[in-house]
Amino acid sequence: MEHSKDAVADRLTAEVVAKVAHAPSPRVRETLQALVRHLHAFVRDVQPTESEWAAAIDFLTRTGQICTDRRQEFILLSDTLGVSMLVDQINHGRGGATTETTVLGPFYVASPPDIPAGGDIAKGLPGEALFVEGVVSSEGGAPLADAVVDVWQSDDQGRYDLQFDDPSVFFLRGRLRTDDKGRFSFWSIMPQSYPIPTDGPVGALLASAGRHAYRPAHVHFRIAAPGHHDLVTHVFVRGDKYLDSDVVFGVKESLIADFERRDRTVPLAGAPIDRPHRYLRYDFAVARAAGDALAAG
Ligand code: BEZ
Ligand code: FE
Repeated sequence: MEHSKDAVADRLTAEVVAKVAHAPSPRVRETLQALVRHLHAFVRDVQPTESEWAAAIDFLTRTGQICTDRRQEFILLSDTLGVSMLVDQINHGRGGATTETTVLGPFYVASPPDIPAGGDIAKGLPGEALFVEGVVSSEGGAPLADAVVDVWQSDDQGRYDLQFDDPSVFFLRGRLRTDDKGRFSFWSIMPQSYPIPTDGPVGALLASAGRHAYRPAHVHFRIAAPGHHDLVTHVFVRGDKYLDSDVVFGVKESLIADFERRDRTVPLAGAPIDRPHRYLRYDFAVARAAGDALAAG
């Protein structure tokens, strides 16, 4: 009988795969079996020493321990290893007539404050004034009234409010609703490129791989319209020096836009703007949810 180390390890893998073979849910079963197979293959590949494996467990322990309701280190881990964008490609990679998607990131806050059309999410923060407007439509179709448009972004130093320890710090985020022609607009300041948080285990991982931690400047959007799939994306500032090396691999060409320098803008709705500002026009097309084509119009 074959008693080589490899044969014993293979038997162990088969035994663990068999142990989860009776999970009542087929999806749970296939997922757990794949997890065991791939995890065992990884360990076989790397051949860790016991102290290396203990360090790996310590890394994951610290990744969990640093998480709070304002700090999400597991999202950073998933993002910086490219797993978030892999999940994005699997779920949204079909192309077509809808706006491309990218990572949600760790700085989204559900139910941000309502902002009226043309309102200001910067509320006096220093920075270069930015006016943003656009139209939300159903894929290849009609503009969507009353779609919820959540926006969030970094400040002029590349910081998000959630990175401040003080929970009362709240800035540069808001919830808009499209008007009867699908239009939305708001004032803000130019976002800046920024390093993702590096003071935790993920920062150490990046450093150990010799990687920088920067994301190119962008404005985040999450768009929800009845009868349509939620759209999670950003619009990136053309010309940013990190567009080709985003630490979370989130840049797609169609999401890079001009943030024009202007002295005058006649907006889609409302009075002309007659002062220097940056201007972004970006239109979004959202995918109809299956079986809801009629409701979506
Ligand atoms: C962000 O764009 O806010 C972000 C995305 C992934 C990791 C860190 C930050
Ligand atoms: Fe961001």
